[in-house]
Amino acid sequence: MMSHKLLLFTVMCISFRVAFSKHPTATRHYKFNIKMQNVTRLCQSKSIVTVNGQFPGPAITAREGDRVVVKVVNHVQYNLTIHWHGIRQLRSGWADGPAYITQCPIQTGQSYVYNFTIKGQRGTLFWHAHISWLRVTLYGPIIILPKRGVPYPFPKPHKEVPLLFGEWWKADTEKIINQAMQTGSAPNISDAYTINGFPGPSYNTCSAKDTFKLKVEPGKTYLLRLINAALNDELFFSVADHNLTVVEADAVYVKPFKTKIVLITPGQTTNVLLKTKNHHPNTTFLMAAKAYATGPAAFDNTTASAILQYHHRHHNSTMKLNKLPLLQPSLPIFNDTTFAFKFNDKIRSLGSSKFPSARVPQKVDRRFFFTVGLGLIPCPNGGNQTCQGPNNTMVAASVNNVSFVMPNTALLQAHFFNQSKGVYTTDFPANPPFKYNYTGNPPSNIMMKTGTKVVALPFNTTVELVLQDTSIIGAESHPLHLHGFNFFVLAQGNGNFDPSKDPARFNLADPAERNTVGVPSGGWVAIRFLADNPGVWFMHCHLEVHTSWGLKMAWVVMDGNRRNQKLPPPPADLPKC
Ligand code: C2O
Ligand code: CU
Repeated sequence: MMSHKLLLFTVMCISFRVAFSKHPTATRHYKFNIKMQNVTRLCQSKSIVTVNGQFPGPAITAREGDRVVVKVVNHVQYNLTIHWHGIRQLRSGWADGPAYITQCPIQTGQSYVYNFTIKGQRGTLFWHAHISWLRVTLYGPIIILPKRGVPYPFPKPHKEVPLLFGEWWKADTEKIINQAMQTGSAPNISDAYTINGFPGPSYNTCSAKDTFKLKVEPGKTYLLRLINAALNDELFFSVADHNLTVVEADAVYVKPFKTKIVLITPGQTTNVLLKTKNHHPNTTFLMAAKAYATGPAAFDNTTASAILQYHHRHHNSTMKLNKLPLLQPSLPIFNDTTFAFKFNDKIRSLGSSKFPSARVPQKVDRRFFFTVGLGLIPCPNGGNQTCQGPNNTMVAASVNNVSFVMPNTALLQAHFFNQSKGVYTTDFPANPPFKYNYTGNPPSNIMMKTGTKVVALPFNTTVELVLQDTSIIGAESHPLHLHGFNFFVLAQGNGNFDPSKDPARFNLADPAERNTVGVPSGGWVAIRFLADNPGVWFMHCHLEVHTSWGLKMAWVVMDGNRRNQKLPPPPADLPKC
């Protein structure tokens, strides 16, 4: 038996270690008041939905290992949710946020506390509203610093700057998407792109003053945290006459590589180092973003820009600056699929000893082949209404020919309380309903089914998933985003995936590890993930118009046998439908 003294001493030592361990984690509290705010862009004042009146919204800053607690109070007329895009939400699925998937929306006048711990991730992510198109103005950065005392695997930057790309409509986007969903027509394209909320000088006389300026000093390294929060457009980004070094993607370090141009899809985040020139140049440099668009539909072909301005310490040079020549970066043509292929191939996990990555599942339990793309569904209101497609049909989008129908209650609650009957079925197909030349001429029947179907997976299943674009209405790149997991990007290819040949090309050594991947236009991408997180996890195209049209599905990951492999019950304030 331990003596009392010794026992007391042991207990004291243990509590001392808990309280004063070298790198304690913290709890970061935030309050998000959702409220309307008037802002002026492109010479027009508009009332938009914001967090705390800020646009873009406030940054969440935390260290790896910290707990984040965000109280969201809804003061606007829309019911809404907030999603912490890319946060793994290990056993905290109740805080993930996609409406009707993990929670019912927070109604006007109500609040909900999102509570989660950041485990095993560091880098840039972002938060955004996850219902209808409200994320158009409701978004902000998530900055996860490495644990205290752990350096970056690259030289410490002089400054770190988030650059958020967004998309701006002069009209009310909720009206636009609601109307489009009723009539079956395509929603209007945006009027501008924005960088940190500003369109920049290329639009009209007003937009010149609506320009984000980044003041820099010569001879320094800046870390730009690029976030594509646009609704419907993948973007090229470049800084005139400066190289960028990509060091991280989707909050995972990558093998650094130099590039003049970055491609970033909605839902992706990319950290780049920008080294400024050693001497003060007599030039002002533009940073610009414009669309990478491969689909059949119209798209916003404008260019957002911001200014990189070398800051003279010694004399006030505002006058002179206006006279400086403005240098434009050159960006690829809008449908440069070759660039997209090459750029995505360069992204490889860093896999250093400090940040071991690429824990690629080497054996596969379940294989899936999902076609993603557009097609037709019958006009929703039957005879009461006319849709714009042939024979009273409308354009929709699907995964394996199932256009997902949102339930009226949250899937996660239905799953947790064993009340899935009438809410969802577990017969989501592992393969398309029939084989055809996915990227060739469309088959004769391009009608799709509708339903709320999921795939159920036992805890710790390893999943291999091939995502195949279809050219039914037109080939198009689809940035597929998976909630709750990072996946490994094993390979991408043109045309149809060939299961007899293509697996030989899978990179199982240092594949990119991310949460959003562009399914190449007229091609395929293969990914793997380990289903080690119990809950219901949404997967969808991060082009909001395609999500609205049904390009989405969900995975239900069952509890494991151990206590720490089970999803805890929901918090008491979880909103009700
Ligand atoms: Cu960035 Cu399901 O979302
Ligand atoms: Cu899509």
